[in-house]
Amino acid sequence: MLTESSAAVVRATLPAVQAHAEAITGRFYRRMFDAHPELLDLFNRGNQANGQQKAALAAAVVAYAEHLVGASDAPWGPILDRIAHKHVSLGITPAQYTVVGRHLLAAVGEVLGDAVTPQVAAAWDETYWLLACELIAREARLYQGAGVAEGQPVWRAWRVAERVRETADVVSFGLKPADGGPVPEFVPGQYVSVAVDLDGGRGQQIRQYSLSGRPGAAQWRITVKRVRSTADAPDGLVSTFLHERVAVGDTLRLSPPFGEVSAVAGEGPLVLVSAGIGLTPAMAALEHLAVTAPQRPVTLVHADRAGTAHVLRDELPRLHHALPNLRTALWYEDVAATDVPLAELPMRISPGRVDPELIPLTPDAHIHLCGPLPFMNQVRSALLRRGVPSDRIAYEVFGPGMLRDGA
Ligand SMILES: Cc1cc2nc3c(=O)[nH]c(=O)nc-3n(C[C@H](O)[C@H](O)[C@H](O)COP(=O)(O)OP(=O)(O)OC[C@H]3O[C@@H](n4cnc5c(N)ncnc54)[C@H](O)[C@@H]3O)c2cc1C
Ligand code: HEM
Repeated sequence: MLTESSAAVVRATLPAVQAHAEAITGRFYRRMFDAHPELLDLFNRGNQANGQQKAALAAAVVAYAEHLVGASDAPWGPILDRIAHKHVSLGITPAQYTVVGRHLLAAVGEVLGDAVTPQVAAAWDETYWLLACELIAREARLYQGAGVAEGQPVWRAWRVAERVRETADVVSFGLKPADGGPVPEFVPGQYVSVAVDLDGGRGQQIRQYSLSGRPGAAQWRITVKRVRSTADAPDGLVSTFLHERVAVGDTLRLSPPFGEVSAVAGEGPLVLVSAGIGLTPAMAALEHLAVTAPQRPVTLVHADRAGTAHVLRDELPRLHHALPNLRTALWYEDVAATDVPLAELPMRISPGRVDPELIPLTPDAHIHLCGPLPFMNQVRSALLRRGVPSDRIAYEVFGPGMLRDGA
């Protein structure tokens, strides 16, 4: 809890901080990277360049301040969980909070100028540290749960045991611990961070990839879509590296599995809704249920450009066989480019984009969404309108940020 005097100051200055939040975090990153260039290896350069990380940090600090002073009743726990899981997958340490805090508060002073009296600075310092302490505590529990000893790196070397081209733009990697040790369990929906050293001394970059194989299998699988350049955006750094440079026998540095979103929540009917590469957590869920709960009623709703772009599609016949209560509804924008017929399975293929009104629902279903943000916003809004309680809809965002109600 904030002290009463700090709460009054935060409440009074919240609109100014809110209005300048992105300028503050922009200034913050510049200061911090000037003083600590080694931290550049930790942050996602793509997100820095396209502004997404600035928006995520700013949104989190403002949302927390609103929560503390009672200006918002939006549930805060899920945001904390998301940040803490992402942080531990990157190996963030408590000491780094001191560095971030120092530069963030200095940036507030630089942007807001004379408005930042010592009293205002103290109130925001208190806010920052309340948030930092909550995150540090959650992160300590997550490190402990994953067997990462205090002060030890999260990284472990994994050998690429298999490399499979799934579609023109997607490759799967089968991974085994390089030390021959055990393969940790994970919950379908969880991801690992992958750290790579880019060519030409361009430093380290880290990205997250959902585990797309079966928990408990002898190896992990990640399925990576290559992000290609467009007129105003370059090729994706890590996906291009993995596609072009990583072969069987190479090693990759991976974190333990983290991620707060389960793709198999509940015990009753489950609806997995995905688009494009967002299918990866759903595939881990199907593989898992095929072994642990084969009778569970599951509906897979998947949208893709075409059958030829639909990754891991060849696994569906086997999964349908193992899961007699699996129903599949596919939407392909280009149905003509669907090469292999899947007609003998309990499966419907429709042309165009997913119509959320047609997603089969039962009142007790749990739903898991994964795909581009506009897709998930559209589907989630429609499901809420159709009466699905929000706590039954889990979703995974393949980038920084969360969905907004009503967006
Ligand atoms: C929890 C989670 C799970 C995920 N699971 C998967 C998965 O299973 N499979 C998968 O393929 N991906 C997954 N992702 C996404 C993955 O982590 C990466 O974000 C993705 O591979 C792209 O990384 P990249 O390094 O190739 O691209 P980046 O280099 O990070 O680029 C990202 C985007 O920013 C743009 N960009 C970069 N620089 C600039 C600039 N200067 N100006 C404008 N735009 C710019 C790029 O063009 C690109 O569109 C997941 C992400 C998360 C958070
Ligand atoms: C109170 C302090 C902090 C807050 C509020 C905060 C907030 C956030 C948020 C909202 C995200 C995006 C999560 C997502 O949606 O994926 C994030 C990611 C991240 N944070 Fe923090 N963070 C804090 C402290 C730190 C510290 C101390 C470090 C270490 C230097 C750090 C490094 C990172 C990195 C590297 C990412 C991923 C960035 C990326 O993918 O570009 N954060 N943080």
